[in-house]
Amino acid sequence: MKRIAILGSTGSIGRSTLSVAESYPERFRIVALAAGGNLEAAFEQARRWRPRVISMAAEPDADGLRARLRQAGLSEVEVVYGAAGTVKVATHSEADFVVSAIVGVAGLEATYEAVKAGKTVGVANKECLVAAGELITAEARKQGKPLLPIDSEHNAVHQCLRGGRMAEVERIWLTASGGPFLNTPRSEFSSITVEQALNHPTWKMGKRITIDSATLMNKGFEVIEACRLFHMPPAKIEVLVHPQSTIHSMVEFVDGSILAQFSVTDMRLPILYALTYPERIQSDMRFPVSNLRHLDFSPPDVNKFPCLRLAYEAVEAGGAKTVALNAADEVAVAAFLAGSIGFDQIPRIIEEAVSASNSGKLESIGKVLEADAEARRYAQELVLGINKKIARPRATSVV
Ligand SMILES: NC(=O)c1ccc[n+]([C@@H]2O[C@H](COP(=O)([O-])OP(=O)(O)OC[C@H]3O[C@@H](n4cnc5c(N)ncnc54)[C@H](OP(=O)(O)O)[C@@H]3O)[C@@H](O)[C@H]2O)c1
Repeated sequence: MKRIAILGSTGSIGRSTLSVAESYPERFRIVALAAGGNLEAAFEQARRWRPRVISMAAEPDADGLRARLRQAGLSEVEVVYGAAGTVKVATHSEADFVVSAIVGVAGLEATYEAVKAGKTVGVANKECLVAAGELITAEARKQGKPLLPIDSEHNAVHQCLRGGRMAEVERIWLTASGGPFLNTPRSEFSSITVEQALNHPTWKMGKRITIDSATLMNKGFEVIEACRLFHMPPAKIEVLVHPQSTIHSMVEFVDGSILAQFSVTDMRLPILYALTYPERIQSDMRFPVSNLRHLDFSPPDVNKFPCLRLAYEAVEAGGAKTVALNAADEVAVAAFLAGSIGFDQIPRIIEEAVSASNSGKLESIGKVLEADAEARRYAQELVLGINKKIARPRATSVV
């Protein structure tokens, strides 16, 4: 029986993880959960899974959850809150496996502490690898524990890498659906609405990653994630637009052989792979191979989607650059979702914030969080500046 803690249990990946656990009750037990602000979902999950401990982001929500659990006769579930609460979930003594699926840098400290506590960690939260991947992977090596990618592309690469030795890898091909604006002219980007940007063609995900997919920043983050997880230089990570999202990624070996992984577009599959690694177990997620007709590929257009270029530049420069890349993106995406800036202004804010950051090496998670706060402040000022300069008509209603 594997005992699981989930960071971000109320989100898209968190719920998919619980759905996998539900399908294999004889294999998985949920021992700890961490949510953000969705009190209703947290209550339902606590009632269904009876974890030892559950965390909420804010104290008033924790108080509310505790009261509801008491009313429901579930006082034995410990309720904690805040960053310390999330760390408590991540390091719970009964958990063997931690799923890191909080969105953004909010999940960084707990993910790092889980690794440091010797847990096997399944990583969905790519932002923590973008901001502090070198520190996290170094700690995992020290602990002798694997970091198992849940992100579908890296999960695919992980599977393909089982076909050869690292020294035999020529390059990694990360596939990208291209997002909803693959065929939209750049001249129309300033009028893209939130609703249009949230309409991803192949995946159903949380809002941040969906917008990041539309700007291709998500793919940029994945390039950095791949560098960190697989210890590869950025020059050996290539992005290929593949609108069908059938092939989740590929590994090319020195002899010219290319291994590709394909499967249904369902995150429960990479989650199941990570939870059961190095085993594979039976599932009902079948890909209808005989229905397969087209596999299209094309290079990404970095002029139209500058976020991808920014990610390559940031990882080459290193240090606080990738921290700033993530922090500025987090601020810019939130501003876009709130209707404060246009879609085309997202990369501009990120580029300015990254160029204002430095490339010195960050030696600790504390330093990473300081650099993150600084870049966030800078990006916030840029957003405010845009709002002052242009009384822009809002492109959309708020979602
Ligand atoms: N969805 C996918 O298919 C997919 C694929 C690959 C990688 N990923 C990565 O996985 C991560 C999660 O993505 P998602 O799509 O599942 O996002 P999501 O649906 O937006 O869920 C985010 C989760 O984080 C929690 N959270 C937010 N702020 C928090 C805080 N301060 N403290 C504690 N918890 C907090 C949210 O809690 P509340 O809802 O309770 O507020 C929610 O449980 C992201 O890093 C994303 O890039 C996702």
